[in-house]
Amino acid sequence: MIAIGWRNMPTVREIRFHRREDPPLTVLTAYDKSTASIADAAGVDIILVGDSVGNTMLGYENTLPVTIEEMISHTSAVVRGVKNALVVTDLPFLSIGINESSSVMNAGKIIKKGGSDAVKIESGPHTVKITKKMVDIGIPVMAHVGLTPQRILQLGGNFQQGTDEKSAEVIIDLAKKHEDSGAFAIVLEHIPSDLAEEITNMLEIPTIGIGAGPSTRGQVLVVDDVIGLSRQIPPFAKQFGDVRSEMTNAIEMYINSVRKEEFPPKN
Ligand code: KIV
Repeated sequence: MIAIGWRNMPTVREIRFHRREDPPLTVLTAYDKSTASIADAAGVDIILVGDSVGNTMLGYENTLPVTIEEMISHTSAVVRGVKNALVVTDLPFLSIGINESSSVMNAGKIIKKGGSDAVKIESGPHTVKITKKMVDIGIPVMAHVGLTPQRILQLGGNFQQGTDEKSAEVIIDLAKKHEDSGAFAIVLEHIPSDLAEEITNMLEIPTIGIGAGPSTRGQVLVVDDVIGLSRQIPPFAKQFGDVRSEMTNAIEMYINSVRKEEFPPKN
């Protein structure tokens, strides 16, 4: 771990050269300062300001409405709560891919205005050159293949990807091309575990799985799913706590206490 300024974060270089024999990388989303500071103090390696903020905090049906301004705002809140983890921010739908210059400018805004350490791009054939351009300029890029929820309208739902030979080949090819373009790590979302294992063995850069089985070199989950705030979680996620019940109890106790005139105390 290298100290950069006041933070002791792992650098993208350290993530890039994560060794296969090292413990798997831990990645968790966060969208606000309080949650980020708890995840950071707990020791997570990377905090992802995911565009899943759209489904979780902002109450949208999917990630499509999320704007670059919203990502910048949530990123700067997260950065204010983090001392040790690397912060990576998603480029939201339509902020990337229209053309090279607007994509690079939007990634630059995430870094310059949000204070993020790197961007994540839902990758496709259209992001190979853009990834290279960003990396050449000095913007670290995490790639993302398999299920890419920004394509939900085209996919018709958040289904597992790479389930037949042809689509698996497309994912393998995209993963390799984005490694060659300079991505420092790659998310593999909702693909069969044997495909994730093949990609993990093929690439030098670490793979970070979500719904991709146990063979990837790191795991990522959405924090609301992990702590038990989500009403429903995807079949591949795991709930490790029950924050929704805890919050409900605390809020109901507060309401009852005020109604019974027990809080605030009379003297
Ligand atoms: O937006 C997000 O939270 C993500 C993760 C699920 C990988 O992209």
